[in-house]
Amino acid sequence: MAMEEKIAALQAQAAEAIKNAATTLSELDDIRVQFLGKKGEFTSILRGMGAVAKEDRPKIGKIVNEAKAQVEALIASKNEELKARALEQRLAEEKIDVTLPGRRQPLGHLHPLTLTLERSKDIFFRMGFSVEEGPEIEKDYFNFEALNLPKDHPARDMQDSFYITEDILMRSQTSPVQARTMQKNDPNTPIRMIAPGRVYRRDEYDATHSPMFTQVEGLVIDKGVSLGDLKGTLELFLHQIFNENVGVRFRPSFFPFTEPSAEVDISCVMCHGKGCKVCKGTGWLEILGAGMVHPHVLEMSGYDPHEVSGFAFGMGVERIAMLSYGVDDLRLFYDNDQRFLSQF
Ligand code: PHE
Repeated sequence: MAMEEKIAALQAQAAEAIKNAATTLSELDDIRVQFLGKKGEFTSILRGMGAVAKEDRPKIGKIVNEAKAQVEALIASKNEELKARALEQRLAEEKIDVTLPGRRQPLGHLHPLTLTLERSKDIFFRMGFSVEEGPEIEKDYFNFEALNLPKDHPARDMQDSFYITEDILMRSQTSPVQARTMQKNDPNTPIRMIAPGRVYRRDEYDATHSPMFTQVEGLVIDKGVSLGDLKGTLELFLHQIFNENVGVRFRPSFFPFTEPSAEVDISCVMCHGKGCKVCKGTGWLEILGAGMVHPHVLEMSGYDPHEVSGFAFGMGVERIAMLSYGVDDLRLFYDNDQRFLSQF
């Protein structure tokens, strides 16, 4: 075959390969190496120029170079085309759908115990009470002694406690805030306060007990405060936190810091007083402790029991939440199970 024809055939072969065989940039590069590379087909033709008659060499050389240039041009344009196609494909793959709805952040809400506490506070706020707070790690003095429970008093056994030292413990009730508030207060100004917070007792962890729970303590001191005021205040509170029709009953009881003392019951929220499993057939549920502030307690904190009198009460927030929401296991409040919590 004459040289010219060989070159023309090679050029046609290269053009065909570029057009049809190159579908990716790397395939195109393989074709470039095959025809134009150092060991490529055109290069070997140029190397074989020695065999061409001297007078024909310039002409053949020109033809080879032109053919090479054309193949290079084809490769360059195919290269552009493949690059553009790759970009288009990437754009198609990475396309985002701006019409998709956004990912919603689930909105939380207050814990049922917090809700119960907030509702309780609201009721007391409307009666003119303010909130007082005290430490959860408390002095034995405030937790017991200033509440008429000297060291070794048997009534301390009612609240088996976590002691940190002889004189410091996890408070077993919110009552120490009574003593703290009285002592920082001027004995001539009346007190009307509630003290919400966590308390700790060495206790079982079961459906109705927990070594940590939440209390709301209340204290009122003024001239001429009577047992009637205590009854009226608690009745109003219980009617608002449960409902208007709930029965309220006071039973004589004992607390070292109140005299007289009472245990306050409400009519059973399940059977409305008929008697059921929840109220153990009695029709009543114990809901809080209360009483008239003991004269010793007033005296110890600088108040004159001949001048002023007061009442105090204390209740468990968990118990109120259980009864008002119909929850039968106290531990549910602490498990942080979304299936439970999301119901409130
Ligand atoms: N502090 C008592 C308790 O935890 C409750 C109480 C408070 C009783 C105030 C009377 C007056 O058991």
